[in-house]
Amino acid sequence: MAKIFSIASGKGGVGKSTISCHLAKSMAGHGEKTIIIETDCGLRGLDIILNTDQIVYDIGDFISGNCELVDAIQPVEDFDHLHFLPASTNFKQNLSHNDLFKICESLGDVYDNIIFDLPSGYAMTAKTKDISDIFLIVVTPDPVCIRNASMFVDFLRNDCKISAQMRLIVNKMTSNALKKGFVENMDYIIDQTGLQLLGIIPYCESIMLSNFLGKHLKKRTLTHKIFDAIHDRLIGKNTKILI
Ligand SMILES: Nc1ncnc2c1ncn2[C@@H]1O[C@H](COP(=O)(O)OP(=O)(O)OP(=O)(O)O)[C@@H](O)[C@H]1O
Ligand SMILES: [Mg+2]
Repeated sequence: MAKIFSIASGKGGVGKSTISCHLAKSMAGHGEKTIIIETDCGLRGLDIILNTDQIVYDIGDFISGNCELVDAIQPVEDFDHLHFLPASTNFKQNLSHNDLFKICESLGDVYDNIIFDLPSGYAMTAKTKDISDIFLIVVTPDPVCIRNASMFVDFLRNDCKISAQMRLIVNKMTSNALKKGFVENMDYIIDQTGLQLLGIIPYCESIMLSNFLGKHLKKRTLTHKIFDAIHDRLIGKNTKILI
């Protein structure tokens, strides 16, 4: 049965789609059959990051009965084990909990990993609450985002009653943020949320350019190793957090 990951955040633009893409590539690179499901209807973007621009059908077509699920699933160049289910371009397409559940039921026996790339905020996150095995909460090092994440996790736990595991990923880390009180803020969020830190990803040109050009991260670079280390920690290895 597939393990289901939801990549979530309270605030937008923190890097959920970027992390979905590179984590999925790391999983696929380890031979694990992986699919990313993009759920941000009306705001499709992963096709650019994954360089899969020949999309005919998407998740909305499947939900509306215009195609079979398999017709909407896209291959990803250079990765035999990686697939992508693109979001609808229609803002009015509303994915229900039932839609997501049915998709996971169909794909659960085919894949090792299913990754939901969620839009920011509570609405879609709540819809995956009893489908996901683990939530990866993404945060950037600025204090507003950190406070937002703390409130977001509180809401997921206490109002949505999410009981699945949650882990924290810090993205867009800079050396200045490290110097200027980030570590104290980090202690605060870990204390407040009780979330275990899974990884820290630097703010860097290689990730920006890889998204921009739809290219893979180069093997043996620090960023590539960071995503592999996140993968390893997710499968229970005691790998150090790289930075
Ligand atoms: N570590 C990083 N270093 C440099 N740029 C990054 C990094 N992570 C993400 N970005 C850039 O930040 C922007 C937002 O990233 P992304 O689209 O992944 O965020 P998101 O959380 O999925 O946004 P949304 O909430 O709109 O779905 C993109 O331009 C992306 O290239
Ligand atoms: Mg996104």
